[in-house]
Amino acid sequence: MDQTSLQLLLSLLSVLSCTTDQARLTLSPSSSQFFEGDFVSLSCEEDDSSAGWTLRRNTTRETRTQCGPDWGTSAGSSCNIRDLFPSDSGVYWCESREGATSQSINITVSGGAVILQSPVLPVMEGENITLICRTQTSSDLPAGFYKHGSLIIDRPTGHVTILHVSKADEGVYRCNIRGHGESPPSWISVTEKPATASAPTTAPPPPPLLHVFLTVASVCGLVLLVLLVLLVRRHVQRKPKAAEDDAGEHPITYSEVNTFNQKEQRSRRSRDFQAEPDVVYSSLR
Ligand SMILES: *[C@@H]1O[C@H](CO)[C@@H](O)[C@H](O)[C@H]1NC(C)=O
Ligand SMILES: *[C@@H]1O[C@H](CO)[C@@H](O)[C@H](O)[C@H]1NC(C)=O
Repeated sequence: MDQTSLQLLLSLLSVLSCTTDQARLTLSPSSSQFFEGDFVSLSCEEDDSSAGWTLRRNTTRETRTQCGPDWGTSAGSSCNIRDLFPSDSGVYWCESREGATSQSINITVSGGAVILQSPVLPVMEGENITLICRTQTSSDLPAGFYKHGSLIIDRPTGHVTILHVSKADEGVYRCNIRGHGESPPSWISVTEKPATASAPTTAPPPPPLLHVFLTVASVCGLVLLVLLVLLVRRHVQRKPKAAEDDAGEHPITYSEVNTFNQKEQRSRRSRDFQAEPDVVYSSLR
């Protein structure tokens, strides 16, 4: 592996670790509604504590206020709220120093006698959920459950379980206990199952023969490409050499041989001629 691809891999890993650096907001007890005077503990469950996650909320009176002296008691990554008031009703979420946010949750604090305990976090499609309608002292009184203002079911024991929830079950729910009163409304949200989770089971695998054919075809294509490149390179390298060969193989015409021979003969003759006087001269001496 060369250096550039190593750097690419490292930057990819850092991007991935950045995107997984998130916080999850959990609350205990897990309920969408509380009675006045109840206690709740909210936590930012974080992957990276150095990101500095803090709990914030919007209520009808305040916006983006932080868990602190005005409301709640910070305890590590948790925020505890003792003695809930109806004015603590609102949207709660975790936020990092960089401004990243967790999912948000709605909390309703009732000043009345009845609350509906429903999932506070979005429910995954196909899961079962249980709704409990209760007073401060009892959770098994006969109760009626309503969705968007219409009665969906009357239960003698104060709770109902909805099996295999679907997107159609999403909505605003409330309940009523005769002789005690009605709960505030709460929104139940259902998230669709991610499509990728069901894709591998539904998508048929490609037929093996086609797969083999495609593999062979792509390998052949690659080999052909390599051969082509090699051929072109050889041709380019051979060109000057071939020109030399051509010149060498070019048949010598008779006239050329003649002139060559004549020239040589002439030069030989002139050498002879020049040599002769020397000889003559020396012989004269
Ligand atoms: C809180 O209130 C501010 C200002 O109204 C708004 O911009 C923000 O989206 C709210 N946050 C949530 C989680 O509802
Ligand atoms: C909070 O409640 C409002 C309406 O009351 C709703 O539109 C919103 O989706 C709820 N948020 C969550 C996270 O349930």
